[in-house]
Amino acid sequence: MTLLDALGWRYAVKQFSDEKIIEEELKDLLDAVRLSASSYGLQPYRIVVVESKVVRERLLPFSYGQDKIAQSSHLIVFAAQTELGDGTVDHYIDKCAEISNKHHRELVHFSDQMKSALAAKTPEQRQQWAHQQAYIALGNLLTCAAVMKIDSCPMTGFDSVGYDDVLGLAKKGLTTSVICPIGRRHLDDVQVHRPKVRFDYDELVMEI
Ligand SMILES: Cc1cc2nc3c(=O)[nH]c(=O)nc-3n(C[C@H](O)[C@H](O)[C@H](O)COP(=O)(O)O)c2cc1C
Repeated sequence: MTLLDALGWRYAVKQFSDEKIIEEELKDLLDAVRLSASSYGLQPYRIVVVESKVVRERLLPFSYGQDKIAQSSHLIVFAAQTELGDGTVDHYIDKCAEISNKHHRELVHFSDQMKSALAAKTPEQRQQWAHQQAYIALGNLLTCAAVMKIDSCPMTGFDSVGYDDVLGLAKKGLTTSVICPIGRRHLDDVQVHRPKVRFDYDELVMEI
């Protein structure tokens, strides 16, 4: 299957079957998402995997009637960090030093550059920036899942306050950005027959 075939095959599933995604497939998918690009590489979000039916049923009242969050195999929650500043950069620099076998003093310039860029934003802009990075990871999840023939449905139709509360995210310095149930499409899912609606290449792509 080519990449274009995979993207043509995927759609936002409305009804999932009760088939589970096996552990290894899930790990591979999340490992692919872990490789997502992010601004400066800071990855200012965490990926919460909710398998427990009990927890997902507790999320239902905050999901605008979209019971696929409980029907699916797993619910993936992208949660942006809420404490964004020097600590975010220091944590990343520790990892850079470890991976590239460099001393922290060799990374001071890079570190200062990132700290200044973050400090130049308002708290609201920093939060927005963190949510944007989470969305990049969501896009990657959708594509990688399609390539792996795993079904998904990106969702912003939920109440983030309720999600943060049920998942205990605030005390972990996180807030829900976007969610994505994954699993296998139900054979009766009416959406599967809906044609893909996309603007034509010439309308969407401007060649200058
Ligand atoms: C950020 C985002 C939020 C979305 N929220 C929902 C949602 O809450 N519920 C839903 O059923 N579909 C949701 N969708 C799915 C879109 O409606 C769907 O991707 C779009 O109509 C294109 O169709 P396709 O993905 O099936 O090709 C969302 C998609 C994105 C990217």
